[in-house]
Amino acid sequence: MTRMSEPISPPLPVRVEHANGIAVVTIDNPPVNALAQAVRVELLRVFQGLKDDAEAKGIVLIGAGRDFVAGADIREMEAPLEPSLPEVILAMEACRQPIVAAISGNALGGGFELALACDRRLATAGATVGLPEVKLGIIPGAGGTQRLPRLVGVAKAIALIAAGRRVGAKEAAALGMVDRLVEGDLLAAAKAEAAQAGKRRLSEMAVPAADAGEVEKAAVEAARSARGVPSVGKAVEMVRLSATTDFAAAVRTERATFVTLRDSAEAKALRHLFFAERNAQKVPGVGGVKARPIERVAVIGGGTMGSGIAVALADAGLTIALVERDGPAIEGARTRIGATYDRVVAGGRLTRAAADERIGRVTLGADWAAIAGTDLVIEAVFEEMDVKLEVFRRLDELARPGAVLATNTSYLDINRIARATKRPQDVVGLHFFSPANVMRLLEIVRGEATAPDVLATGFALARRLGKVAVVAGVCEGFIGNRIFSAYRAQMENLVEDGAWPEDVDRALEAYGFAMGPFAVFDLAGLDIAWAGRKRRAATRDPRERYVAVADRICEMGRFGRKTGRGWYLYPEGAKKPVPDPEVHALIEAEAAAKGIKRRKVTDAEIVGRALAAMVNTAAQILAEGIALRASDIDLVLANGYGFPAFRGGPLFAADARGLPAVLAEVEAMHRAAGFGSEPAALLVELAKSGSRFADWDAGRNR
Ligand code: 3HC
Ligand code: NAI
Repeated sequence: MTRMSEPISPPLPVRVEHANGIAVVTIDNPPVNALAQAVRVELLRVFQGLKDDAEAKGIVLIGAGRDFVAGADIREMEAPLEPSLPEVILAMEACRQPIVAAISGNALGGGFELALACDRRLATAGATVGLPEVKLGIIPGAGGTQRLPRLVGVAKAIALIAAGRRVGAKEAAALGMVDRLVEGDLLAAAKAEAAQAGKRRLSEMAVPAADAGEVEKAAVEAARSARGVPSVGKAVEMVRLSATTDFAAAVRTERATFVTLRDSAEAKALRHLFFAERNAQKVPGVGGVKARPIERVAVIGGGTMGSGIAVALADAGLTIALVERDGPAIEGARTRIGATYDRVVAGGRLTRAAADERIGRVTLGADWAAIAGTDLVIEAVFEEMDVKLEVFRRLDELARPGAVLATNTSYLDINRIARATKRPQDVVGLHFFSPANVMRLLEIVRGEATAPDVLATGFALARRLGKVAVVAGVCEGFIGNRIFSAYRAQMENLVEDGAWPEDVDRALEAYGFAMGPFAVFDLAGLDIAWAGRKRRAATRDPRERYVAVADRICEMGRFGRKTGRGWYLYPEGAKKPVPDPEVHALIEAEAAAKGIKRRKVTDAEIVGRALAAMVNTAAQILAEGIALRASDIDLVLANGYGFPAFRGGPLFAADARGLPAVLAEVEAMHRAAGFGSEPAALLVELAKSGSRFADWDAGRNR
């Protein structure tokens, strides 16, 4: 028997259709079927109705469009509305008919929790499932921490939930997260399943007996990777509860924990970055513009960056021609690429065969003819203008018309580089971060002539590489390096004024940075920055405060970790940088020579000064139009420079602290550093008018 659709008017986000004793419940809330309030209201009504519907013998739950359900509506988390998702799930569990989840695309967070509340889960081969809540500073809040361990065991559930891992369908089926994969018509398969399946509520199932050692191992690994995000520890605690507490009590505890975390500062910060990442892709004049197709890519220069970029491209399935200067340089690049893949294989993240296939897609040589057929060229040669200009003149001669010509320069003027060609519209900066195959950030630097479809191509490439792209204008250092330089200078000032490098690093690591700046300088190598300072010495404004400690350290042949000595000592076998009395003496001597009486610097002052330096330069960058939005700057610092994500980036953190307080810190910085550290006009204006960077963005995004 076939019944007509219920008379639900089209805009409603949930539809029910009955056919042959099966009720098909379709969630239709574009673009990703997020569980907004209107969806929950309708789902609750629909399942409460189906409970007493004698004609419906089975129920299928499916998403319209590409996805099943991408999760709770993250926008609603600032002001939650009734009914809650657990109420919807209670109504589902009250149904006496079997409910089959038909999963295509994404079933994430609350979406996967809906699927877990069903009696069966079928998925297409392209589906992705998981509980990524910890990435938003929360935990699953609708039974996920209790139902998943009943399917996969406590240890595995800890590993999956604490990492917020998204799992492809094949692995999900192997783990038992979905019952089986469906080829062909998903809905038909789900209907057939619903017609013959019995009830199997996970809430009524026992948690499989766990190996205490494995659970402990998973918990330790989770704690190690938590990086100061409190939700990870809570997630582990909740999953462990599943083995000791009855289901109903455990889900109540889970919900209460979820609500507390949802309202926490960390979760708000991570939500800010979630939307920042999506907003960054909305660039005026580029929306709707088609990207140029990219399959074959050339990389010029196979040093640290060129090799890393080649690996990133190979990982994304592209074919790469890497051009180096000569035989030894080619061998150097080959070794670097090989060593990178050796590490990935040794870490168990890739099979040897898969690594070899990727390596096989990188052709190395010294012959520029390899460029002729490529769609995109990424230049990563030495950071010297003359070398870059020569490379771009040659590219102009050899690249096919319409090929995108990109430079990975860190600081240089992209407009000048573009003018070396007769096609400046095709030239763009693609600024990767080291190691390029690992770091998520890509700055797309827009020259004055860069064509909109070239920018769109940059964004499309970033998406393909799984990177976060932010557009930047041309200036020395673009967004990230310009802010980092200002921050570096102010941290060196503080060292001269009284802090030791290890004080600065400790304070900023306690704030949430994975590594303090001096440890980072040592890791990156001090010689490159030294060469840059020597190059700029002639043009440096003499009124600028200049701290020469780093120069003195380099003059002693101490270039950081690679030479065993830099700001710190790195004795054989030491796990951590070791503070060095010799460097202390050097700092004291430099301070004394300038007549500086070193004083006590507190951790709070260090953190405040670091934030002041970043925010002040960021405000200049915003006013100059180098960055389009404050949230773009937050993305850059959080994804490229180790700024703790759970603090939302420097401008989000500044808003949270209050801009008048940040301005006061900038004024103190100005008093200490003098010329060049004046408070930025935009910061003064926002602070004095009681406004925030978020308000500035809201005005722009309208
Ligand atoms: N809530 C609100 N909006 C969402 C959303 C969500 N859960 N997921 C995606 N969106 C929005 C995006 O902001 C974007 O909006 P815009 O077009 O206005 O910028 C639009 O949907 C499309 O998103 P993407 O650009 O990210 O599209 P992609 O196709 O690249 O990716 C996706 C799709 C993989 C689903 C990705 O959007 C994603 O990862 N979403 C978040 C998934 C998630 O974290 N879910 C858990 C939420 S927390 C939860 O469920 C709590 C529960 O336990 C109670
Ligand atoms: P590198 O010195 O490790 O590598 C440069 C490579 O370019 C060398 O292997 C050299 O043989 C090759 N090369 C030089 N001239 C060439 C030419 N005419 N043709 C072909 N190959 C040539 O330098 P690195 O660190 O990889 O930097 C490259 C670029 O990337 C620079 O512009 C740098 O500013 C930028 N960059 C560097 C980052 C880093 O952390 N090292 C981060 C982001 C950007």
